[in-house]
Amino acid sequence: MREEHLRYLVCPRCKGGLDILGGHVATGSSIETGRLQCITCQKTYEIVRHIPRFVPAENYASNFGLEWNKHARTQYDSYTGVNISETRFFEETKWPRRLDGQLVLEVGSGSGRFTEQAASTGAMVISVDYSSAVDANYASNGDRENVLIVQADLRRMPFRENFFDKLFCFGVLQHTPSPEESFMALPPYIKNGGSLVVDVYRRRGAIRQALMTKYWVRLFTRRIPAERLYAWCEAYIRSMWPVARLLRRLPCGRGLAWRLLIADYYGICDLPEELLTEWATLDTFDMLSPVYDNPQTVDTVREWFRKADMSDIDVHCGYNGVEGRGTKSE
Ligand SMILES: C[S@@+](CC[C@H](N)C(=O)[O-])C[C@H]1O[C@@H](n2cnc3c(N)ncnc32)[C@H](O)[C@@H]1O
Repeated sequence: MREEHLRYLVCPRCKGGLDILGGHVATGSSIETGRLQCITCQKTYEIVRHIPRFVPAENYASNFGLEWNKHARTQYDSYTGVNISETRFFEETKWPRRLDGQLVLEVGSGSGRFTEQAASTGAMVISVDYSSAVDANYASNGDRENVLIVQADLRRMPFRENFFDKLFCFGVLQHTPSPEESFMALPPYIKNGGSLVVDVYRRRGAIRQALMTKYWVRLFTRRIPAERLYAWCEAYIRSMWPVARLLRRLPCGRGLAWRLLIADYYGICDLPEELLTEWATLDTFDMLSPVYDNPQTVDTVREWFRKADMSDIDVHCGYNGVEGRGTKSE
């Protein structure tokens, strides 16, 4: 972070302003190591590897830290050469291509593939994640003039209320202990008239839900240490890939591959074979490792927007299951 970024941050505990304590180490204008202190309650927060950290290094999202540091670039358009993240970002948000002068908050950034897209609009983008995924994001986007990356918990963020013009949160809410509570934590940070866009996994009917292999395999796998589970996923995808390729020839073969926990994106994303296996390893681990996976129905998500008193509510099935947009009422 740079000194000028202090204007975006407050103490997550008491909302007091923050100061940078002396004795920090800087590389150019970026503070690499140091400490922030709340002017009001005196609580201190570390700056580690250029990133202000408002939460303990290890927490329930540590599996995502491992996932996104191993796959720091896998899903970036600038790595795949295919505009998958760009299309999803602009189609889901319906935001214009230029947002100069606006302040955008990204909640749950993972490796930062959507940070790259949000930053391309010219807006100032503040990007938050609970896990060490922030380090992967920093490696790709940390040098951008209009990006600040912060490690924090969405349920207690280090920002003022009524502060952001726009907020997006993709693929995160289902991975929190209470998706509804997490959703309700977001609108206060948006200015009146500002835009909120979220997406969340979709809950199917009871039978379809029960038939999804990952939900019963997860009962065991989410307890396995992340490193060990990742090694298993890598070996599994390597050994099962020839099977996945054969299954593509059958009418329902791809669905069958997913039931066998092979996250094969063939026919969904136009990627070469070696990238498909990289995505498969990433997403098989992503299915099996999270501590929480609480999918939601369209009606539930619509109800959240209503409860938060949002207007222009638009909730429907979309990219990641259920996607929802709303405007904070004036
Ligand atoms: C499936 S990843 C999605 C990442 C990114 N939005 C994407 O779509 O590529 C979910 C992310 O949510 C983050 N997350 C989970 N709980 C969180 C919380 N309480 N506060 C902030 N981030 C959280 C995880 O660390 C993880 O990086």
